[in-house]
Amino acid sequence: MGDRLAVLGIYGSPRKGGNTELLIEEALRGAEAAGARVERVRLAEMRIIPCRECLSCYRDGNCVIADDMQGLYKRLLEADRIILASPIFFYGITAWAKAMVDRCQALWARRYILKDETLNREGRRGLFISVSGTKGKRSFEGAVLTVRYFFDAFGVAYADDLLVRGIDACGDILKEPEALRRAFDAGKGLVAGGTDPKI
Ligand SMILES: Cc1cc2nc3c(=O)[nH]c(=O)nc-3n(C[C@H](O)[C@H](O)[C@H](O)COP(=O)(O)O)c2cc1C
Repeated sequence: MGDRLAVLGIYGSPRKGGNTELLIEEALRGAEAAGARVERVRLAEMRIIPCRECLSCYRDGNCVIADDMQGLYKRLLEADRIILASPIFFYGITAWAKAMVDRCQALWARRYILKDETLNREGRRGLFISVSGTKGKRSFEGAVLTVRYFFDAFGVAYADDLLVRGIDACGDILKEPEALRRAFDAGKGLVAGGTDPKI
């Protein structure tokens, strides 16, 4: 605790030892090297069901679904920095990650409907890490917008991203030491730097 910045690393791929996992590990190592306290959550090991659109959260900012998202809301709100890693699945983030994002409608409601000022806490910043199997030029367009507005729902600025194309087989990112180095630097920079929101 103390005055060390709290970084939450969110693993959005179900694949153990996969490419985004290896990248976020490097980014979190970078964050630790910059003095941060790091916590990891693996969405594929949690039970997070999709948003039911009951809109109960518009009344009080709370989600009625009793699952692992309840603990995650607290962590999302407490973190000073968020790193989300997800590969591209059909031009978006994985369903594991999207279920979490959609459940953040409760935080969006707190911020934009209920005008909860605590969600405007200054200086909270996020990093998005992604990988696509193909070299498609537009691979990351959908995911970047989703993540930008996921961060925004609870007052986090989209400060930086690391998007790597053409990495498909499990662990192939290890053949790209430059990408791993960039991940370390991005994690370090997220803690130390003052980059303005990227988009
Ligand atoms: C269900 C599924 C959908 C995918 N969709 C895309 C896609 O739309 N575009 C793309 O370039 N790669 C796509 N891929 C490939 C992954 O992005 C790629 O294998 C990536 O390296 C996986 O990252 P990971 O090891 O962190 O899970 C898809 C893979 C799966 C399993």
